[in-house]
Amino acid sequence: MPETARPAGKPVIYSGIQPSGTLTIGNYIGSLSRFKQLEADFDCLFCVVDMHAITVRQDPAQLRGKINELAALYLAVGLDPGNTILYCQSHVPAHAELAWVLDCFTYMGELQRMTQFKDKSARHEDNINAGLFTYPVLMAADILLYQTSAVPVGADQKQHLEIARDIAIRFNNIYGNVFVVPEPYIPKIGAKILSLQDPSRKMSKSDPEDTFIGMLDPPEVIRRKMKRAVTDSGAEVRFDPDGKPGVSNLITMLSILTGRTIASVEGDYVGKGYGALKADAAEACVETLAPIQAEHRRWLADLTELNRVLKDGADRASRIAARTMGKVRRKVGLAPLN
Ligand code: AMP
Ligand code: TRP
Repeated sequence: MPETARPAGKPVIYSGIQPSGTLTIGNYIGSLSRFKQLEADFDCLFCVVDMHAITVRQDPAQLRGKINELAALYLAVGLDPGNTILYCQSHVPAHAELAWVLDCFTYMGELQRMTQFKDKSARHEDNINAGLFTYPVLMAADILLYQTSAVPVGADQKQHLEIARDIAIRFNNIYGNVFVVPEPYIPKIGAKILSLQDPSRKMSKSDPEDTFIGMLDPPEVIRRKMKRAVTDSGAEVRFDPDGKPGVSNLITMLSILTGRTIASVEGDYVGKGYGALKADAAEACVETLAPIQAEHRRWLADLTELNRVLKDGADRASRIAARTMGKVRRKVGLAPLN
């Protein structure tokens, strides 16, 4: 079975971020910062996945605020809404519709293996709901609705991408070429920025404040958090992710944010201590984030325009989604709409 059912045009890139917590420098490096570079060569869709966010309890007013905040951040990194489709997941009901169909082509055993489900059910023992369990199927629906070729994500999403591919292949094997089978697009370095306080874990927006640099953190907060970052008892600035995870994490951030190689960053600190590395990593974050924060404020000050962008994005996304959904309905044998 060929792996393409792609309509004519540029290949499609799709990604989503949950509007929960404050986006971190890890989100920026692993996902947001790469989106802008993809805009020129691909048809891009970027989504505020609000339906995924409610798999854990959310305060409604806070969630609404976070949705705007995230949409404004997408725009603040420079995405062009005249070109790229930027929208909210819940504005396009086809996501829920396709997710249901795909639920019927996904096995319990596959979902039980998902590490994010295991992690999240351990952290939210009082609310292990069915949505948390079928989360990867909704994510597969997000991706497959748009005949997506590649999905730029951090390393933590690899397993979810694999299940999306398995579902697409399974469906195509039964019904013919309905879905493009998507490829993960995970960066070689920076796919997993680590927690500042526990470099054995990824930096996560749902962890305590001092473990991450927030994309909206003011300069003094960034400097303070970096200064307190956990390193090791040595003194040599050397890139060794296994032996020196904390230091290597700082080198990775500095290297990516300043566009230099790891070796060149390492070379700068011969004979210097961790303090200098931390100070420079902090400045790199401050300098990268300052213009984004300014743009972010500008977008949040004009919610009418922000909402217009999201509505336009949802309209365009809906038209594409409807084509895939129509095909799925026909293939599966659901009652025709007219
Ligand atoms: P989430 O915060 O889980 O909605 O993730 C949004 C995007 O950021 C996904 O593509 C993640 O893989 C990516 N991401 C999240 N945390 C990190 C991290 N610590 N390092 C690199 N990428 C990350
Ligand atoms: N599950 C992803 C995360 O937590 C977010 C997401 C939802 C996503 N739908 C997606 C990412 C589709 C890429 C494509 O990071």
